[in-house]
Amino acid sequence: MQVIKQGSAIRSIVQALRCSGKSIGFVPTMGALHEGHLQLIRAAALQNDITICSVFVNPAQFNNPDDYKLYPRSLEQDIAALEAVGCHYLFAPTATDMYPEQTLLHFSFGVLEEVMEGAHRPGHFNGVAMVVSKLFHLVQPHKAYFGQKDLQQVAVVRQLVKALSFDLEVVCYPTIREESGLAMSSRNKRLDVQQREHAAQLHQALLLAQKQIGVKSVAAIKTDVQTYLAGVPELQLEYFEIADPATLQPVPDPAAAEVALCIAAHVGPVRLIDNMIVKPQQLA
Ligand code: PAJ
Repeated sequence: MQVIKQGSAIRSIVQALRCSGKSIGFVPTMGALHEGHLQLIRAAALQNDITICSVFVNPAQFNNPDDYKLYPRSLEQDIAALEAVGCHYLFAPTATDMYPEQTLLHFSFGVLEEVMEGAHRPGHFNGVAMVVSKLFHLVQPHKAYFGQKDLQQVAVVRQLVKALSFDLEVVCYPTIREESGLAMSSRNKRLDVQQREHAAQLHQALLLAQKQIGVKSVAAIKTDVQTYLAGVPELQLEYFEIADPATLQPVPDPAAAEVALCIAAHVGPVRLIDNMIVKPQQLA
């Protein structure tokens, strides 16, 4: 695997590959790679001639300076993990290479960013859209791979791709979990053993809600989730929403179609998110 640091270098490599008819699969990440990322790399490697991964902790998408400073960084381990799953190129730019000058350009995603992560992390999706647009321009992939773990991000990226006519397919893969049910996340590295146990209760809360979809009202399910998590004082619930999986808008009551159960909480120093899509056949 070749490690490329400069945008101009990855651009010329990709142009040559595209000219020789190669298909390109791209997995954008912020590094500290785990199995959730690696499934995306494996899928890209199976479905394309060439696989490119990016590792860039994007300052523009962090609304909390401590979260940016303390975000786990492990490039050497990432390189070894990527080599083991057959990645061809790692693009690992510096912040000055990605952002040579400050931009006033601003993205708006309308109601999509007025809920959940958009509402609780002001500027976050603007930063995601900015870096994803830059990466798509540099890497010019045929397919780009994202995880359902960040469901709202997938919706934002799909809207971005349509609005800016990016000539690529967005592919989404399911959330990979620890045995405890805890959704894998680079931020989990900042949790100690006990905090990880508490964090796993997020998944338990989603399972509890899943059983009640189609049985109880949305309001009653929300109350049950709040009551359940109030029993875990080490975990502070930020939101739990029952939403349309494509638009992320709240669903009418009672939930009668496929829904996304979305949750965010703080455990110790770390903010975690998770979600689960409940398909119609699972509805009571
Ligand atoms: P990061 O958090 O590193 O995630 C990179 C990709 O891996 C995202 O598409 C994310 O949804 C996916 N992913 C993370 N954990 C996962 C899990 N447990 N199961 C399945 N997929 C998982 O998301 C970002 O980086 C950034 O916002 C980025 C898109 C790179 C822009 O900076």
